[in-house]
Amino acid sequence: MEHIKNIAILTSGGDSPGMNAAIRAVVRTAIYNNLKVTGIMSGFSGILKSNFIKMESHSVSKIISSGGTILKSSRCHEFLSYEGRKKAYDNMKIHGIDALIVLGGDGSFHGADLLGKEFGLPVIGVPCTIDNDIYGTDFTIGYDTAINTAVRAIDQIRDTADSHNLLFFVEVMGRHSGFIALSTALATGAESVLLPETPTNIEQLCNYLVTGRRKNKTSGIIIVAEGDEEGDAQEIARKVKVRLPDYETRVTILGHVQRGGSPTSNDRVLASILGYEAVNALLKGIYGVMTGRINSKIVYTKLEETYSKRNKIEENLVEISTILST
Ligand code: F6P
Repeated sequence: MEHIKNIAILTSGGDSPGMNAAIRAVVRTAIYNNLKVTGIMSGFSGILKSNFIKMESHSVSKIISSGGTILKSSRCHEFLSYEGRKKAYDNMKIHGIDALIVLGGDGSFHGADLLGKEFGLPVIGVPCTIDNDIYGTDFTIGYDTAINTAVRAIDQIRDTADSHNLLFFVEVMGRHSGFIALSTALATGAESVLLPETPTNIEQLCNYLVTGRRKNKTSGIIIVAEGDEEGDAQEIARKVKVRLPDYETRVTILGHVQRGGSPTSNDRVLASILGYEAVNALLKGIYGVMTGRINSKIVYTKLEETYSKRNKIEENLVEISTILST
């Protein structure tokens, strides 16, 4: 696109491992195409505060392997109002910004989409979240690292569970989605996995545990996804303990440990490809979309769809996980 000379980039919402690799890809691809790149600090709130920095090729040296985001991130409430977005657009115009690339999740894409629709600013989204819940891509940047982090932690918990005959309830992140929970359950051989997408029946879970004990299973790992209808891991452990008072239970909440750390090679590769394609989309005059990858092919999905639809878990994997752990 002829009139695009200066691209701005920001990271928004929860950070995810691989965001830095995606920033690097955007900056280097833009510079390769003789475009200027402006880094916006701390997400959308950085636009409102005109917190802009000039990005050079060396600004993104050696960041491909680091977690977090060098541009920092935030969740910005002011951006929810038209007035907030108008101020943001005006600030970008004053600073000569012609287009915006947003690295984040569905909430961030909603804000970006409104900015594009209300003021005609070309915007592109790059899916970065550990939750893997974004419609329009097989995987989001950060998901692979997060599940590997959770798997490492649960393997360690398994050692203690076995040594002391304990029943562990391990809560993993995902907000309203069970992707992290389901993958970690399969990868760790967890005895059961409780997800927001499927009904949870505490009685059934207890019967299943009792059957396992009859077969000499003296310990167990139950993975609980955030957002389960029966409550969080503490609450579910309490409900099980009431029914099975002889069981020694423990609860571990993995929490933000899942959001940090050096990205896996899968996340670095995905981030590099999607960051590169985000700039190329703008150059081809394609905007108002998110760059995703489905079956190894680049797919552009309207931003509107990324927050009105949701990536779905493969429910048959729950059954596979259960069969394999009996
Ligand atoms: O969206 C990423 C995520 O880590 C979710 O899995 C989790 O529910 C949420 O963010 C936690 O947000 P915060 O860091 O604001 O507590």
